[in-house]
Amino acid sequence: MRHLMTPLDLSVGELDALMDTAGDIKLHPEKYAHTCDGRILAALFYEPSTRTRLSFEAAMLRLGGRTMGFAEATSSSAAKGESVADTIRVVSCFADIAAMRHFKEGAPMVAAQFSKIPVINAGDGGHQHPTQTLTDLVTIRSSKGRLDSMKIGMCGDLKFGRTVHSLIRALLRYENISFVFISPGELKLPDYMIEELKAHPDVSYKEVTRLEDALPELDVLYMTRVQRERFFNEEDYVRLKDYYILDSRKMELAGDDMIVLHPLPRVNEIAVEVDNDPRARYFEQVQNGMYIRMALILMLLGIEV
Ligand code: NCD
Repeated sequence: MRHLMTPLDLSVGELDALMDTAGDIKLHPEKYAHTCDGRILAALFYEPSTRTRLSFEAAMLRLGGRTMGFAEATSSSAAKGESVADTIRVVSCFADIAAMRHFKEGAPMVAAQFSKIPVINAGDGGHQHPTQTLTDLVTIRSSKGRLDSMKIGMCGDLKFGRTVHSLIRALLRYENISFVFISPGELKLPDYMIEELKAHPDVSYKEVTRLEDALPELDVLYMTRVQRERFFNEEDYVRLKDYYILDSRKMELAGDDMIVLHPLPRVNEIAVEVDNDPRARYFEQVQNGMYIRMALILMLLGIEV
Protein backbone atom coordinates (compact mmCIF):
# COMPACT_ATOMS: atom_id res chain seq x y z
CA MET A 1 0.00 0.00 0.00
CA ARG A 2 1.26 3.47 -0.89
CA HIS A 3 0.67 6.91 0.52
CA LEU A 4 1.54 10.33 -0.87
CA MET A 5 3.21 12.65 1.64
CA THR A 6 5.67 14.58 -0.52
CA PRO A 7 6.22 14.71 -4.31
CA LEU A 8 9.37 12.64 -3.78
CA ASP A 9 7.17 9.64 -2.95
CA LEU A 10 6.66 9.41 -6.72
CA SER A 11 9.48 8.75 -9.16
CA VAL A 12 9.91 11.02 -12.17
CA GLY A 13 8.60 8.15 -14.32
CA GLU A 14 5.50 7.80 -12.15
CA LEU A 15 4.92 11.56 -12.33
CA ASP A 16 5.06 11.36 -16.10
CA ALA A 17 2.64 8.45 -16.13
CA LEU A 18 0.21 10.36 -13.88
CA MET A 19 0.36 13.40 -16.14
CA ASP A 20 -0.24 11.21 -19.19
CA THR A 21 -3.25 9.61 -17.51
CA ALA A 22 -4.60 13.04 -16.52
CA GLY A 23 -4.33 14.12 -20.15
CA ASP A 24 -6.17 11.01 -21.30
CA ILE A 25 -8.91 11.54 -18.70
CA LYS A 26 -9.38 15.09 -19.96
CA LEU A 27 -9.80 13.83 -23.53
CA HIS A 28 -11.84 10.67 -22.79
CA PRO A 29 -13.68 11.13 -19.49
CA GLU A 30 -16.21 8.43 -20.37
CA LYS A 31 -13.49 5.74 -20.26
CA TYR A 32 -12.95 6.49 -16.58
CA ALA A 33 -16.50 7.23 -15.43
CA HIS A 34 -17.01 3.88 -13.66
CA THR A 35 -13.48 2.91 -12.70
CA CYS A 36 -14.15 3.61 -9.01
CA ASP A 37 -17.71 2.34 -8.75
CA GLY A 38 -18.33 1.24 -5.18
CA ARG A 39 -15.21 2.94 -3.80
CA ILE A 40 -15.25 5.64 -1.15
CA LEU A 41 -12.88 8.57 -0.64
CA ALA A 42 -12.73 10.15 2.81
CA ALA A 43 -11.88 13.86 2.78
CA LEU A 44 -10.52 14.67 6.24
CA PHE A 45 -10.01 18.42 6.33
CA TYR A 46 -8.90 19.91 9.65
CA GLU A 47 -8.15 23.24 7.98
CA PRO A 48 -10.17 25.40 5.52
CA SER A 49 -10.11 24.53 1.84
CA THR A 50 -12.25 25.14 -1.20
CA ARG A 51 -10.30 23.91 -4.19
CA THR A 52 -8.40 21.00 -2.77
CA ARG A 53 -11.33 19.39 -0.97
CA LEU A 54 -13.84 19.92 -3.77
CA SER A 55 -11.26 18.85 -6.31
CA PHE A 56 -10.71 15.54 -4.50
CA GLU A 57 -14.43 15.04 -4.16
CA ALA A 58 -15.11 15.92 -7.80
CA ALA A 59 -12.27 13.60 -8.84
CA MET A 60 -13.77 10.63 -6.97
CA LEU A 61 -17.32 11.39 -8.13
CA ARG A 62 -16.19 11.60 -11.75
CA LEU A 63 -14.54 8.19 -11.37
CA GLY A 64 -17.88 6.77 -10.26
CA GLY A 65 -16.99 6.57 -6.56
CA ARG A 66 -18.46 8.33 -3.56
CA THR A 67 -17.09 10.63 -0.89
CA MET A 68 -17.53 11.41 2.78
CA GLY A 69 -15.68 13.38 5.41
CA PHE A 70 -15.52 16.66 7.24
CA ALA A 71 -14.50 20.15 6.23
CA GLU A 72 -13.37 21.54 9.59
CA ALA A 73 -11.82 20.15 12.74
CA THR A 74 -14.70 21.44 14.86
CA SER A 75 -17.18 19.14 13.16
CA SER A 76 -15.06 16.02 13.74
CA SER A 77 -14.09 14.13 16.89
CA ALA A 78 -10.85 16.13 16.92
CA ALA A 79 -12.97 18.67 18.80
CA LYS A 80 -13.43 16.01 21.52
CA GLY A 81 -9.70 15.39 21.63
CA GLU A 82 -9.40 12.35 19.36
CA SER A 83 -5.93 11.77 17.92
CA VAL A 84 -5.23 11.66 14.19
CA ALA A 85 -4.04 8.07 14.69
CA ASP A 86 -7.40 6.98 16.11
CA THR A 87 -9.41 8.93 13.54
CA ILE A 88 -7.63 7.26 10.62
CA ARG A 89 -8.02 3.81 12.21
CA VAL A 90 -11.75 4.45 12.30
CA VAL A 91 -11.90 5.93 8.79
CA SER A 92 -9.94 2.91 7.48
CA CYS A 93 -12.98 0.81 8.39
CA PHE A 94 -15.27 2.90 6.20
CA ALA A 95 -13.34 4.20 3.20
CA ASP A 96 -10.92 2.95 0.54
CA ILE A 97 -8.68 6.02 0.35
CA ALA A 98 -8.28 9.22 2.38
CA ALA A 99 -7.12 12.77 1.65
CA MET A 100 -6.06 14.65 4.78
CA ARG A 101 -5.36 18.33 5.32
CA HIS A 102 -4.06 19.37 8.72
CA PHE A 103 -2.72 22.53 10.31
CA LYS A 104 0.09 20.55 11.97
CA GLU A 105 3.14 19.62 9.92
CA GLY A 106 3.48 15.84 9.79
CA ALA A 107 -0.10 14.96 10.79
CA PRO A 108 -0.88 13.11 7.53
CA MET A 109 2.38 11.20 8.00
CA VAL A 110 1.21 10.04 11.42
CA ALA A 111 -2.11 9.05 9.87
CA ALA A 112 -0.32 7.03 7.18
CA GLN A 113 1.48 5.02 9.86
CA PHE A 114 -1.81 3.92 11.41
CA SER A 115 -3.88 3.62 8.27
CA LYS A 116 -5.13 0.54 6.46
CA ILE A 117 -5.94 2.61 3.38
CA PRO A 118 -3.79 4.94 1.21
CA VAL A 119 -3.47 8.42 2.72
CA ILE A 120 -2.83 11.50 0.59
CA ASN A 121 -1.36 14.60 2.20
CA ALA A 122 -3.68 17.42 1.10
CA GLY A 123 -1.52 20.03 2.82
CA ASP A 124 0.17 19.87 6.24
CA GLY A 125 0.81 23.22 7.90
CA GLY A 126 3.59 25.16 6.23
CA HIS A 127 5.27 21.96 5.11
CA GLN A 128 4.15 20.14 1.94
CA HIS A 129 1.24 19.98 -0.51
CA PRO A 130 2.07 17.27 -3.06
CA THR A 131 -1.19 17.20 -5.00
CA GLN A 132 -0.96 20.94 -5.62
CA THR A 133 2.49 20.20 -7.01
CA LEU A 134 1.06 17.59 -9.37
CA THR A 135 -1.39 20.26 -10.50
CA ASP A 136 1.41 22.78 -11.00
CA LEU A 137 3.62 20.32 -12.89
CA VAL A 138 0.90 19.19 -15.26
CA THR A 139 0.00 22.82 -16.00
CA ILE A 140 3.61 23.76 -16.69
CA ARG A 141 4.09 20.69 -18.87
CA SER A 142 0.94 21.30 -20.88
CA SER A 143 1.72 25.00 -21.39
CA LYS A 144 5.43 24.72 -22.05
CA GLY A 145 5.73 21.19 -23.38
CA ARG A 146 8.52 20.38 -20.92
CA LEU A 147 9.56 20.46 -17.28
CA ASP A 148 13.30 20.77 -17.74
CA SER A 149 15.30 23.84 -18.87
CA MET A 150 13.08 26.23 -17.00
CA LYS A 151 13.57 29.46 -15.08
CA ILE A 152 10.94 29.67 -12.37
CA GLY A 153 10.21 32.70 -10.26
CA MET A 154 8.44 32.05 -6.97
CA CYS A 155 7.00 35.14 -5.40
CA GLY A 156 5.37 36.00 -2.09
CA ASP A 157 5.31 33.96 1.09
CA LEU A 158 8.13 31.50 0.55
CA LYS A 159 8.50 30.91 4.27
CA PHE A 160 5.07 29.49 5.07
CA GLY A 161 3.88 28.58 1.56
CA ARG A 162 3.75 24.78 1.47
CA THR A 163 2.93 24.73 -2.24
CA VAL A 164 6.25 26.44 -2.91
CA HIS A 165 8.18 23.91 -0.81
CA SER A 166 6.61 20.95 -2.57
CA LEU A 167 7.06 22.39 -6.05
CA ILE A 168 10.75 23.12 -5.47
CA ARG A 169 11.29 19.55 -4.29
CA ALA A 170 9.64 18.15 -7.35
CA LEU A 171 11.48 20.39 -9.82
CA LEU A 172 14.92 19.67 -8.34
CA ARG A 173 14.83 16.37 -10.18
CA TYR A 174 14.62 17.90 -13.67
CA GLU A 175 17.56 19.15 -15.72
CA ASN A 176 18.64 22.73 -16.17
CA ILE A 177 16.30 24.27 -13.62
CA SER A 178 16.92 27.68 -12.15
CA PHE A 179 14.91 29.43 -9.49
CA VAL A 180 14.44 33.08 -8.65
CA PHE A 181 12.97 33.42 -5.16
CA ILE A 182 11.19 36.74 -4.81
CA SER A 183 10.16 37.67 -1.27
CA PRO A 184 10.59 40.22 1.45
CA GLY A 185 13.43 39.31 3.84
CA GLU A 186 11.00 38.08 6.49
CA LEU A 187 9.29 35.63 4.16
CA LYS A 188 12.35 33.97 2.62
CA LEU A 189 12.56 30.22 2.14
CA PRO A 190 13.14 28.25 5.34
CA ASP A 191 16.65 26.91 5.97
CA TYR A 192 15.64 23.30 5.36
CA MET A 193 14.61 24.18 1.80
CA ILE A 194 17.87 26.06 1.20
CA GLU A 195 19.73 22.94 2.37
CA GLU A 196 17.80 20.84 -0.15
CA LEU A 197 18.69 23.31 -2.90
CA LYS A 198 22.37 23.25 -1.93
CA ALA A 199 22.36 19.47 -2.16
CA HIS A 200 21.68 19.92 -5.90
CA PRO A 201 24.69 21.90 -7.17
CA ASP A 202 23.40 21.62 -10.74
CA VAL A 203 20.35 23.71 -9.82
CA SER A 204 20.93 27.45 -9.66
CA TYR A 205 18.95 29.84 -7.52
CA LYS A 206 18.96 33.41 -6.33
CA GLU A 207 16.95 35.33 -3.76
CA VAL A 208 15.72 38.81 -4.66
CA THR A 209 13.18 41.26 -3.28
CA ARG A 210 12.01 43.11 -6.42
CA LEU A 211 9.50 41.37 -8.66
CA GLU A 212 10.17 43.88 -11.45
CA ASP A 213 13.82 42.83 -11.71
CA ALA A 214 12.96 39.16 -12.07
CA LEU A 215 10.03 39.36 -14.48
CA PRO A 216 11.88 39.79 -17.82
CA GLU A 217 13.89 36.57 -17.41
CA LEU A 218 11.22 34.10 -16.25
CA ASP A 219 9.54 31.19 -18.03
CA VAL A 220 7.11 30.66 -15.16
CA LEU A 221 5.99 33.02 -12.41
CA TYR A 222 4.48 31.25 -9.41
CA MET A 223 2.62 33.78 -7.27
CA THR A 224 1.51 32.99 -3.73
CA ARG A 225 -0.68 34.44 -1.01
CA VAL A 226 0.82 35.66 2.26
CA GLN A 227 -0.25 32.87 4.62
CA ARG A 228 -2.12 34.87 7.24
CA GLU A 229 -3.06 31.84 9.36
CA ARG A 230 0.61 31.00 10.03
CA PHE A 231 1.60 34.42 11.37
CA PHE A 232 2.16 34.91 15.06
CA ASN A 233 0.80 38.43 15.01
CA GLU A 234 -1.63 40.32 12.82
CA GLU A 235 0.59 43.44 12.55
CA ASP A 236 3.27 41.53 10.66
CA TYR A 237 0.66 40.12 8.31
CA VAL A 238 -0.86 43.53 7.61
CA ARG A 239 2.57 44.99 6.89
CA LEU A 240 3.51 42.22 4.45
CA LYS A 241 0.24 41.22 2.80
CA ASP A 242 0.37 43.65 -0.11
CA TYR A 243 4.12 43.57 -0.62
CA TYR A 244 3.66 42.23 -4.17
CA ILE A 245 0.81 43.02 -6.48
CA LEU A 246 1.12 41.72 -10.01
CA ASP A 247 -0.79 44.03 -12.35
CA SER A 248 -0.98 44.66 -16.09
CA ARG A 249 1.79 47.25 -15.95
CA LYS A 250 4.20 44.76 -14.38
CA MET A 251 3.12 42.07 -16.84
CA GLU A 252 4.50 44.31 -19.61
CA LEU A 253 7.97 43.57 -18.25
CA ALA A 254 7.52 39.82 -18.75
CA GLY A 255 8.11 37.85 -21.92
CA ASP A 256 5.25 36.80 -24.19
CA ASP A 257 5.81 33.16 -23.24
CA MET A 258 5.94 33.55 -19.49
CA ILE A 259 3.04 31.87 -17.73
CA VAL A 260 1.58 32.94 -14.40
CA LEU A 261 0.50 30.27 -11.93
CA HIS A 262 -1.05 30.62 -8.48
CA PRO A 263 -2.31 27.78 -6.28
CA LEU A 264 -5.22 30.05 -5.21
CA PRO A 265 -6.94 31.42 -3.19
CA ARG A 266 -5.78 34.81 -4.40
CA VAL A 267 -6.10 37.80 -2.13
CA ASN A 268 -4.50 40.98 -3.54
CA GLU A 269 -1.29 39.62 -5.02
CA ILE A 270 -2.66 39.38 -8.56
CA ALA A 271 -4.87 42.24 -9.75
CA VAL A 272 -8.03 40.92 -11.42
CA GLU A 273 -7.09 42.79 -14.61
CA VAL A 274 -4.36 40.18 -15.14
CA ASP A 275 -6.98 37.39 -15.39
CA ASN A 276 -7.66 38.27 -19.03
CA ASP A 277 -4.01 38.12 -20.00
CA PRO A 278 -3.44 34.91 -22.00
CA ARG A 279 -0.35 34.26 -19.87
CA ALA A 280 -2.51 33.91 -16.74
CA ARG A 281 -3.05 30.17 -16.25
CA TYR A 282 -4.29 29.87 -12.67
CA PHE A 283 -7.86 28.93 -13.48
CA GLU A 284 -6.75 26.34 -16.02
CA GLN A 285 -4.48 25.08 -13.23
CA VAL A 286 -7.54 24.42 -11.04
CA GLN A 287 -9.14 22.32 -13.76
CA ASN A 288 -5.95 20.33 -14.24
CA GLY A 289 -5.93 19.68 -10.49
CA MET A 290 -9.06 17.60 -10.74
CA TYR A 291 -7.76 15.43 -13.61
CA ILE A 292 -4.44 14.75 -11.94
CA ARG A 293 -6.20 13.82 -8.68
CA MET A 294 -8.35 11.38 -10.66
CA ALA A 295 -5.17 9.83 -12.03
CA LEU A 296 -3.63 9.71 -8.55
CA ILE A 297 -6.66 8.01 -6.97
CA LEU A 298 -6.56 5.32 -9.67
CA MET A 299 -2.85 4.80 -9.12
CA LEU A 300 -3.03 4.54 -5.33
CA LEU A 301 -6.00 2.18 -5.53
CA GLY A 302 -4.10 0.07 -8.06
CA ILE A 303 -6.82 0.39 -10.68
CA GLU A 304 -5.62 -0.02 -14.26
CA VAL A 305 -7.74 1.28 -17.11
C1 NCD B 1 -2.89 26.44 -1.13
C2 NCD B 1 -2.73 25.76 0.21
O1 NCD B 1 -3.71 25.33 0.82
O2 NCD B 1 -1.59 25.65 0.63
N1 NCD B 1 -4.20 26.36 -1.58
C3 NCD B 1 -4.55 25.26 -2.31
O3 NCD B 1 -4.55 24.14 -1.84
N2 NCD B 1 -4.83 25.44 -3.60
C4 NCD B 1 -2.36 27.82 -1.15
C5 NCD B 1 -2.88 28.80 -0.15
O4 NCD B 1 -3.71 28.50 0.69
O5 NCD B 1 -2.42 29.94 -0.23
